[in-house]
Amino acid sequence: MSTNNHRPDVVELLEQHAPDAMSLNQRHLNPQLGRVLRTLGFDRDWAHGRGPWLIDREGHEYLDLLSGYGVFALGRNHPYVKRQLQRVLEADTPSLPQLGLSTLAGVLAEELIGRTPSSLDAVVLTSSGTESVEGALKLARAATRRARILYCERGFHGLTMGALSVNGNEEFRERFGPLLSDCNEVPFGDLDALQRELRRGDVAALIVEPVQGKGVYLAPDDYLPGALELCHEAGALLIVDEVQTGLGRTGRFLALEHWGIEPDLVALSKALSGGYVPAGALLTSRSVFRATFDSMERSVVHGSTFGGGDLAAAAALAALAVIDRDGLVARAADLGQLLLELTRPFVERFEIVRDVRGLGLMWALELGPPSGRTARLVWEAIERRQPGLFAQLVIVPLFRDHRILTQVAGHHMNVIKVLPPLIIDEAELRRFVDALEQVLESAEGHMLRRYASLGMDMGLRSLTSR
Ligand SMILES: Cc1ncc(COP(=O)(O)O)c(C=O)c1O
Repeated sequence: MSTNNHRPDVVELLEQHAPDAMSLNQRHLNPQLGRVLRTLGFDRDWAHGRGPWLIDREGHEYLDLLSGYGVFALGRNHPYVKRQLQRVLEADTPSLPQLGLSTLAGVLAEELIGRTPSSLDAVVLTSSGTESVEGALKLARAATRRARILYCERGFHGLTMGALSVNGNEEFRERFGPLLSDCNEVPFGDLDALQRELRRGDVAALIVEPVQGKGVYLAPDDYLPGALELCHEAGALLIVDEVQTGLGRTGRFLALEHWGIEPDLVALSKALSGGYVPAGALLTSRSVFRATFDSMERSVVHGSTFGGGDLAAAAALAALAVIDRDGLVARAADLGQLLLELTRPFVERFEIVRDVRGLGLMWALELGPPSGRTARLVWEAIERRQPGLFAQLVIVPLFRDHRILTQVAGHHMNVIKVLPPLIIDEAELRRFVDALEQVLESAEGHMLRRYASLGMDMGLRSLTSR
């Protein structure tokens, strides 16, 4: 924009540049992402968001079951959170005095501690999930005076250097090394393997998601309690990453409540601010906290400039109030149960459905090759083009024909995943199940060949666009 005295109005900018999102992205942001969106046909001009709906410029409503990767647990533009943000702006608060304290940051910390296990009684406020994780890794090292961190295969904890060093997905790590040394992968759910690593006596912490975001894999029932016990026996800490699973998503305020464990550190973010403002939190035990912040000189050795700002804190306090008032945690449990009941029969009904799993409103359906010879050949041909492509052949018609936004649960995975907003209603959930049933029916039945040709076409398009 040229320099002149005109001060643009954001609504005017939105109108003026309404058709430009793709061209601006291709010029200045991430053109490869633009290509992906075009290839999948997901390149809509989004104009509005309301509750569980994304609305394009023509006024078409799409049911959003991706929720901005889980941040819109309250749906988009929740009126109460919005009003609270307007209120805090109107209050002209000092926000971030830095050499001074903010009231709302303290209130938020107290609210978080009041809702979480009694082992957690200190808070570091952050602005993202990866920042909460970075804090957890640093505080765990300082508290144990050990370096080694264990993480699980497929684990995902963010993409900054520390978090990436404990990322169990090679596609994210590739080209960014060397990452932190002293970080080792362990199989998810395997207590024996964990014990073998812990025996060396040099482990600071294990970091783990209670339900893995990549692929939606649930820890076996004895894993988290067993891991906590083994860690403590070996003088190591347990970090539970609840960035995706926290704040009601799995039908408990924290997913770890399903196993009744009291870990040393918990990372939060995503849904914490109702999706409006970057916000996150690292909850720790006071003893872990003290090992880092143990003198006045060290009072600012960890933190970040924006952590605990008034907009983030006001949005987070409002989001917590909505979660409580509207009973969203119980709602996630009930609707999640319904979603499993409606979709588990698909495993029997469709040859290509291998598994349906989930906890609360974190749900996935895994596809696998059909048994018939011809159908299997088609499947294999599609998979040879691009592993995981079959899952795309389900999410594309869900979006194109049924106006429902879902995602593939990870790289090269034939797993379809949804993270519906917790405010979704039963009718909307049933609409998804009906649409999914139709898409699976088409994929498995007489349409298989057409899907195959679409698959070839998409594979070729993505190859030629490299
Ligand atoms: C479990 C988990 N941890 C950490 C992160 C990183 O969060 P952010 O993208 O806010 O840095 C994510 C993001 O998807 C996540 O799912």
